[in-house]
Amino acid sequence: MTAPNIETIVSLAKRRGFVFPASEIYGGLGSSWDYGSLGVELANNIKKSWWRWLVHERDDIEGLDSSIIQNRQVWKYSGHETTFSDPLVDCRSCKGRFRLDKLQDVTCPKEPSANAGSGKECDLTEAREFNLMFRTTVGAVSSDEDESALAYLRPETAQGIFINFANVLNTSRRKLPFGIAQIGKAFRNEVTPGNFIFRTREFEQMEMEYFCRPEDAPTIHQEFIDAFQEWFYSLGISAANLKLYEQSKAELAHYAERTVDILYRFFPERDDEEKQFDELMGIANRTDYDLRVHSKKPEDAEGKRINPDSTEDLSYFDEATKQRFYPYVIEPAVGVNRTLLAVLMDAYTEKTNDKNETRVILKLKPELAPIKVAVLPLAKNKPEIVALAKDLKKQLLPSMRTVYDDTGGIGKLYARQDEIGTPFCVTVDHESLEDNAVTVRDRDTWEQERVNLLELKEHLQKRLS
Ligand code: GAP
Repeated sequence: MTAPNIETIVSLAKRRGFVFPASEIYGGLGSSWDYGSLGVELANNIKKSWWRWLVHERDDIEGLDSSIIQNRQVWKYSGHETTFSDPLVDCRSCKGRFRLDKLQDVTCPKEPSANAGSGKECDLTEAREFNLMFRTTVGAVSSDEDESALAYLRPETAQGIFINFANVLNTSRRKLPFGIAQIGKAFRNEVTPGNFIFRTREFEQMEMEYFCRPEDAPTIHQEFIDAFQEWFYSLGISAANLKLYEQSKAELAHYAERTVDILYRFFPERDDEEKQFDELMGIANRTDYDLRVHSKKPEDAEGKRINPDSTEDLSYFDEATKQRFYPYVIEPAVGVNRTLLAVLMDAYTEKTNDKNETRVILKLKPELAPIKVAVLPLAKNKPEIVALAKDLKKQLLPSMRTVYDDTGGIGKLYARQDEIGTPFCVTVDHESLEDNAVTVRDRDTWEQERVNLLELKEHLQKRLS
């Protein structure tokens, strides 16, 4: 079948409790979304997979959880205060406000057949830079204009890692190369958010900063580009829907020497194949930029980037060569929300049953599925069957997320579990009382197998792993 468009996923997500519009009862808040009971499980499973794969299964990466609000100097010296902006234009005719570099992607509100800025009546102002950081104040200040109390909500989790480089290095007694990983919220006052959870003003990032010797950076960069494609495959995302994109010099962020994006086919409905793909993650070689700019004595020959406010030198002393230098940083940065959207889009399939009804099956990897097993009684009027089913659920719960459901006929119950990606349904029937066995139904093949109760837990564990 053809890949679903985002609208299909929005409808499924709302219907089944993955994602809801935020502040819905007050009319919503443009492009903010809340994760429902299934969505939060799926997001947590994605984060767990990332953390396990990077922090637990490798032995060269430490974890960190830094603050969302930091000293304002962090954003001054990182360059975000002056450069973290988008070029903005207003249309005097339709009163719309657009990102100059994204006009092609937005339709003109007055002429929905034309791109913003290209319609007959469009009259754009000169572009001006709009800083994307959300401002806030810290402490009891008398006015929001009080600059001394100004702070920002972090626009990336990365800076929290750089400013803790010496802390982690000293306490973990690591040697290069090693990485620091962090998962957390980031905030950007995006000019044109949209496409469901693809671009929002509040989102979650999974970022890892890998510190290495400058000469090793290009090789390590390539290794992470390859490794992250493998990680996406392990989440069930197909290679046909992923693509690499090498950023041009003009596109590179102010700190990057080379950045390769991994794109996903978020917009399969678009005619132009190239436009079907958009950024899922970026993998950047940030050079020694960040450690230098946050250091109290950056050794910059031209005298630039001098930092009189930092109290720490974030250089590294190599015992072997007796040399001191600023490590280079390779940064794989990925959004939780975009990964979740890609996972849902790739898992979405439809299948027709023998009554010619179309059923949605979310073929999530068992590791990611919000619910692993549903226990369903075939006859809910029979107390012994209900008791056995409820007891089974209790037995399975500590080892795998299990639900009990008796709120419909068996066909409807199976369809409900297929649609939310539950890998296995366990059906308790009249015979179960005689033969101590239940039916295990596979979500993807709809095949059924009789399994003895004594072997059930092990049977499911094996198939889920
Ligand atoms: N520290 C580098 C950095 O933040 P980025 O490319 O701006 O790089 C990394 O962001 C990832 O964060 C993106 O690839 C995307 O997955 C996610 N992301 C960025 N802005 C986002 C937004 N407004 N909404 C949802 N996800 C976003």
